[in-house]
Amino acid sequence: MPIPHTDVMPALDFDTLTTPHERDRPTADPLLPPVDELPASASQPEAVCRRVRDELMLDGNARLNLATFVTTWMEPQARELMAETAEKNLADRAEYPQITAMEERCVRMLARLWHAPRPAEVRGCSTTGSSEAAMLGGLALKRRWQDRRRAQGRDTERPNIVMGSNVQVGWKKFANYFEVEPRYVPMEPGRYHLTPDTLTAYCDDNTIGVVAVLGSTFDGSYEPVADICLALDGYQAATGTDIPVHVDGASGAMVAPFLDPGLMWDFQLERVASINTSGHKYGHVFPGLGWALWRDAEALPDDLVFEVDYLGGSSPSFTLNFSRPGAHVVAQYYSFLRYGFEGLRDLAARSRTTARALADRIAAIAPYELVTDGSELPAFAFRVAPGTEGLTVFDVSHAMRARGWHLPAYTFPAPCQDVSVLRVVVRTGFTAELAGMFVADLTEVTRRLHTDRLSPSLS
Ligand SMILES: Cc1ncc(COP(=O)(O)O)c(C=O)c1O
Repeated sequence: MPIPHTDVMPALDFDTLTTPHERDRPTADPLLPPVDELPASASQPEAVCRRVRDELMLDGNARLNLATFVTTWMEPQARELMAETAEKNLADRAEYPQITAMEERCVRMLARLWHAPRPAEVRGCSTTGSSEAAMLGGLALKRRWQDRRRAQGRDTERPNIVMGSNVQVGWKKFANYFEVEPRYVPMEPGRYHLTPDTLTAYCDDNTIGVVAVLGSTFDGSYEPVADICLALDGYQAATGTDIPVHVDGASGAMVAPFLDPGLMWDFQLERVASINTSGHKYGHVFPGLGWALWRDAEALPDDLVFEVDYLGGSSPSFTLNFSRPGAHVVAQYYSFLRYGFEGLRDLAARSRTTARALADRIAAIAPYELVTDGSELPAFAFRVAPGTEGLTVFDVSHAMRARGWHLPAYTFPAPCQDVSVLRVVVRTGFTAELAGMFVADLTEVTRRLHTDRLSPSLS
């Protein structure tokens, strides 16, 4: 029906002239709206949504975050699939058999990618990330050791796990939560991760396993998994004690298969019992996804696996969580099908090429020197050359923050606590243009903080 024309202005309704945002604003103190307690009543969805968005504006810009290994860019199609499957619970396997099938297919793909000699025998599951996967890997090692000891009629007290002091905090949590003594092989000046030379001095009959990291959170370097296994072969020959290896490939297990095909680090090494990775790192899925795989049923004792039937159907479950988003598994399946081996290799290669180029540029800026150069993980650490006056990595990190960059600065563990570094992680979405802007900002910040401080009259 046509709207009748009228010259008469309708009466102003001041209530509708104010935005919902303004109407919903609490009047008691407009500058301090209460957010620490549950509001007494409901508000309009648009108003609340705007308010939450306003708060989120104060968070950093994920693509300027050079600290995280976690995916911050996904294709619109992958985002759409995640949004379309946001309500699907991975635990409801009978209701969502297709997501379960996708999870199993991803496990098979990873088993082949990591050269499992008998892929059909591999046991695996998705997790919320590498930390949960590490807990599961560690638990399986512990249970296997306990079973072995019981079979020998021996006690199961005081298990220990051996790892470099550079392990990610997830392993420290595992040791703490599951009562396993952590034995950290310390770093040495110039050697910032686990190497085979001193490793076996930390092992004994109670060692449930050794954790080898591909690559290190501290500086992106790969630990020499094959040499670590070789050292443990020698230890077994000398003592009779067979110690399995778990590879923490949080980032590297989705980089090395594509870029370092000659590197021996995976199930090709018989001593490697299990591997974890983060689907949400170089697997190109937004945060919330990891994977844990065991070489075979022997590596994952049956008594750790639960059969669950109360949601209809029966399915094996070996995870710390029950309900979990199915959307992340869907996104992983998408990224595997979308990119394939070649596409994933291209993405990893781009990141590594950018990381290498960036490292070279930074090495040319005085007074920085590289600790690693981005030739393993697409990540590297650099420091202020020892003996430099008037500049610390913490000053640089702080000043870069003011330009929007999140460039973390931290100190290595003892006895290398005199080494403080800045770390750059390159991920898909960190374009050449961004890299150029980053170098320009770093150069300027360094000039301002260092050169100008040392010789103010020249500036
Ligand atoms: C080597 C390593 N292991 C484990 C983790 C923990 O991974 P997530 O964040 O997926 O739990 C990280 C995180 O950066 C890592 O670098």
